[in-house]
Amino acid sequence: MDHFDYVDGAMQVEQVPMAAIADAVGTPVYIYSTATLERHVSVFRAGLASLDNPLIAFAVKANPNAAVLATLAQLGLGADVVSGGELLRAVAAGIPADRIVFSGVGKTADEMRLALDHGIFQFNLESEPEAEMLSDVALSMGRRAPVAYRINPDVDAGTHAKISTGKSENKFGIPYDRALESYAAARDLPGLDVQGVAVHIGSQLTDLAPLEAAFVKVGALVEKLRAAGHDIRTADLGGGLGVPYDPSQPLPPSPADYGAMVTRVTQDWPVRLMFEPGRVIVGNAGALLSRVVRVKQGAKAPFVIVDAAMNDLLRPSLYDAWHDIRAVAPTGERAAANVVGPVCETGDTFAMHRDLDVVQAGDLVAFMTAGAYGATMAGTYNSRPLTPEVLVTGDKWAVVRARPPIEALIEGDTIPDWLAQ
Ligand code: LLP
Repeated sequence: MDHFDYVDGAMQVEQVPMAAIADAVGTPVYIYSTATLERHVSVFRAGLASLDNPLIAFAVKANPNAAVLATLAQLGLGADVVSGGELLRAVAAGIPADRIVFSGVGKTADEMRLALDHGIFQFNLESEPEAEMLSDVALSMGRRAPVAYRINPDVDAGTHAKISTGKSENKFGIPYDRALESYAAARDLPGLDVQGVAVHIGSQLTDLAPLEAAFVKVGALVEKLRAAGHDIRTADLGGGLGVPYDPSQPLPPSPADYGAMVTRVTQDWPVRLMFEPGRVIVGNAGALLSRVVRVKQGAKAPFVIVDAAMNDLLRPSLYDAWHDIRAVAPTGERAAANVVGPVCETGDTFAMHRDLDVVQAGDLVAFMTAGAYGATMAGTYNSRPLTPEVLVTGDKWAVVRARPPIEALIEGDTIPDWLAQ
């Protein structure tokens, strides 16, 4: 559910007409709805209501905008970060360090130092060499680092290959079958306090079965580790719950279904559960608003050329992802069309031969469910400035990331002496 609705024939976000934002800020522009963020946090929390004090750490990579993070901080969420940059963003937005978990296969010594300095809740380690490095870094600071190992359960998440992480051939986690050895080695590292187990098998999961299979393996490991004398107090079940992108497809499991499964599987675990949801919190809370530049005849269907491109919303070209595309002021007429951006690649295509609201040059269209992995994956390819972002609450709105002037892009480069005239 979201708060992008048609009122008197035109799309509004909460009480603000989309067209008013386009007129003031220009297009393309990302627009986020606070009420939708609030709703998704409360629905996710309600799904986990029967657990004792779970830590919900928002996966910052899904949407690191400071205003979005501040909204989630006020709602009491923690953060799952994967770089020093994400850690600093989370802290700056008011997320307390004791709600921050640090994931990722390539943490550097500098990033470890930064996270130890802030006193984060947990490092999710992904290899034995990483454990050794963190122990050394912590010791050099006179500290002990609270850690979990992310295990690779060798479970197929059944999602797009580029966002599957839990198969043995993927780069993530330690092999499940070697976990006891890895934990025994970690116990001997004086800079580590081994407190948990973690798992994350992929993103945009539309079936609970692979998640359940992975969680069952985590539960068995927690039991074995405790029997071997490890003081395991946390289990981090990662993120991954899918969201509806295509209204013609069956709905993915709801947070209530997910929570019921988690509650059933984990009922005897003597640990605090942690979660790292990203998409399910922010996905439907955002839309990318764009204006039609022109409509061009195509061989089979017209090309609707919009002013947003693959650099603004990469998901369709990278994962063949489907985003609902709606006219902001539909006439009621519909026809097949191809929706493309201005970038000089055929991959800069948002939809082919899609049944769409008929639109003309100058009309506004909204790419829905763009709040997760949208602006955060934007780039400046074709020398297009980064997309601005707007946050709405009720009848108020604010630019929460301004559109940079093109000069900023140009001035970012330097011409060396030998080329200067
Ligand atoms: N935890 C870890 C360790 C992760 O790697 C991720 C996402 C999450 C949590 C959050 O997963 P979520 O709840 O959002 O599914 N750019 C891709 C998605 C990449 C996901 C990367 N990891 C996309 O646009 O679909």
